[in-house]
Amino acid sequence: MSSKRFSIFTYGCQMNRYDTETITGHLEQEGYERSEDFERSDLILLNTCSIRDKAEQKVFSQLGRLSRLKKVNPALKIAVCGCFATREGEGIAKRQPAVDLIFGTQNISELPRLLGRMAKGRVVDVAPVEPDFTEVAPIQREGALSAWVSIARGCDNFCTFCVVPYTRGPEWSKPSALIVAEVEKAVAEGFKEVTLLGQNVNSYGRKTPGELSFGGLLRRLDRLEGLRRVRFMTSHPKDCDEDMVGAMSGGSKVCEHLHLPFQSGSDEVLRRMDRGYTAEEYLSKVGLFRQRVPGGVLTSDVIVGFPGETDRDFEETLGVLHQARFDSIFMFKYSPRPGTPAFSMKDQVPEEAQAERFEKALRLQRQVTEELHLALVGQVLEVMVEKPMEGAPAPACLGCPAASERRPAAPVGFTGRTRGNHRVQFLASGPAPRPGDLVDVRILRGGLHALGGVWPPDSAAMEESAP
Ligand code: SAH
Ligand code: SF4
Ligand code: F3S
Repeated sequence: MSSKRFSIFTYGCQMNRYDTETITGHLEQEGYERSEDFERSDLILLNTCSIRDKAEQKVFSQLGRLSRLKKVNPALKIAVCGCFATREGEGIAKRQPAVDLIFGTQNISELPRLLGRMAKGRVVDVAPVEPDFTEVAPIQREGALSAWVSIARGCDNFCTFCVVPYTRGPEWSKPSALIVAEVEKAVAEGFKEVTLLGQNVNSYGRKTPGELSFGGLLRRLDRLEGLRRVRFMTSHPKDCDEDMVGAMSGGSKVCEHLHLPFQSGSDEVLRRMDRGYTAEEYLSKVGLFRQRVPGGVLTSDVIVGFPGETDRDFEETLGVLHQARFDSIFMFKYSPRPGTPAFSMKDQVPEEAQAERFEKALRLQRQVTEELHLALVGQVLEVMVEKPMEGAPAPACLGCPAASERRPAAPVGFTGRTRGNHRVQFLASGPAPRPGDLVDVRILRGGLHALGGVWPPDSAAMEESAP
């Protein structure tokens, strides 16, 4: 008998993508085969997100579409998991009877048992089970170069706007020995880079006596043979300390990119968000990073229109954008989440004011990003090669003297990432670099979303045609 097929749709953050890889690992152990052709699958899973209202709306519209597939294939099973499933549980099944299985973010390891129960009728089970930290979970990774490795589960911070502590439960740090084993396994499978994941990676180990600190974990991974780069996200400003930035400055594998969400530049708003720092304290962490990690790249998250945010509060957010000079930011309009303290706060900011502030902050940030990227022109940056550019040789190569002469080693376009996580498109001459290679690229263009350059860095003849 041929194996059963499943498809999975993933929404939300990298943590959900990592969970999808773990769910895939479990399902493959149960004899399922992953398929992109969801219309012919036996099981379809939605790995959902709950962070903003829009994310939740998407789940029901997608479920509506999928439920129609059951009319042609009554044997089809539909499962909902992830943060929204954890939050809503039974509520999803009530609104959408086509759903056969609902499980949570904290009982993924139960999946094999839940599938067995599902055969007898609908199952809703989002009850957390303690993480099994005795062995590396089965995981079927996507991609081939960069692996996500979760180092902690949950969050203890309870920022007043955020659903995550409710959907992912309390913080648990994975034992460092298990993290090292998981990274070693990924390296043995050919991965060159890991991104350590957690809601608050830099509080790693704080609740576990005898465990490494986050800086200690970075230093441990830096010694790992075969691994080329270590990244991590997300860091919380209150836990950003000398130990952590020290590990970023001294390590050859630890990339100099820090994603440090600030959320707001107003102390009053930060207090109501319960973020645990003031704007000045935040900026002092930025100063520490700038001082200890020269040339380091800083990115952030910002929320505009938090309840009670005045024009003046918002101006203070713009002030932080001016001072911190982030390379880029993720910006969000505040979205009220039922069940969180901010949901019932007074003075919710109207949509128009939110939109206006959003646009204003975006304009300022674009300008900063452009300036920072232009300042990189002329520098030689280490790039990890990802893949040839679509339709290589790249359109940018047309008109390049080397390409038009049709020399055997004509330059070809490649994409990759700098240590600071900038996307780079570059022309290569000579023997083509392979995915995973670290090459020194001279930056010749500084666009908003990507940099352009050439490799080798002294290939001046190609400068005019660099992407
Ligand atoms: N743990 C990380 C990020 C978690 S969610 C941290 O603390 O930084 C990612 C981002 O979504 C947050 O940084 C925040 O900017 C945004 N976010 C979370 N809840 C939100 C809400 N209710 N409305 C709008 N944005 C929100
Ligand atoms: Fe949410 Fe705050 Fe935890 Fe981040 S630190 S996941 S914003 S509660
Ligand atoms: Fe991630 Fe969304 Fe959950 S951002 S942690 S999947 S609510």
